[in-house]
Amino acid sequence: MSVNRSVKFIRSGSKNHSPKVGIILGSGLGSFSDGVENARTFSYNDLPGFPQVSVAGHAGQLILGNVIETEVAVLQGRAHYYEHGQADVMKIPVQTLVELGCETLVLTNAAGSLVEDATPGSIMLLKDHINFTGVSPLFGESENSRFVDMVNAYDPTLRQKIRSIADEKNINIHEGVYIWFCGPSFETPAEIQAAKSLGADAVGMSTVPEVILARYFGLKVVALSIITNMAAGMSDLALSHEQTMENADHAAKDLELLLTEFLGTYLH
Ligand code: HPA
Repeated sequence: MSVNRSVKFIRSGSKNHSPKVGIILGSGLGSFSDGVENARTFSYNDLPGFPQVSVAGHAGQLILGNVIETEVAVLQGRAHYYEHGQADVMKIPVQTLVELGCETLVLTNAAGSLVEDATPGSIMLLKDHINFTGVSPLFGESENSRFVDMVNAYDPTLRQKIRSIADEKNINIHEGVYIWFCGPSFETPAEIQAAKSLGADAVGMSTVPEVILARYFGLKVVALSIITNMAAGMSDLALSHEQTMENADHAAKDLELLLTEFLGTYLH
């Protein structure tokens, strides 16, 4: 199986790394991995079952190392459902994190905001999601374990920890519900109106399938969005991937600080 081969390859090329926390870095957030100490880097190209990463801002490498005293495994770059129409495209990478020993998965992404207060450049901690695509990364699984309980999928204790760190460090964060649209076109204003009435606070094209996979494999989950734009119809600015990347840069510093504190004190 691909996952066994990937894990074997990673183990043979790393020195006793035993990561406790996995991190998936979204668009424009790749620079967080520069702060990982004692880093050992693997290209996705060398890891069987890992996806090709085609979106600008996604590097396609796995980095093992530590942030302060916590051992981490950083997935720098993700593949999305919209790239090839496969909802389980991140299954092997997530399963690899589990096999390497991770117990928690931290996900980051770029998202559009549906609430006026959460302006571009701000951070939103996710407390729940709405899967608006009708697809699942667990299609085709046959065991009863596929019926995953999604209550408290976004770990309440770890969310509290993120909120305390944000308070302490004076980082303003919002908390809300993320809705997954399949993309790659941005949403229409009518879709955003519908999403608002369903209770969504942020919108994006990733993360939800990875959260489902993480819960399937028993990982605890924390997810943070960088708000890069107001969602379709909420501002006069045209939506573009370039705008997403530019605004991701602005909030990246705050998010990096938040993540460093979270990871650095994870074991306490
Ligand atoms: N919609 C979907 N995905 C996104 C957006 C958006 O407005 N912004 C960043 N990723």
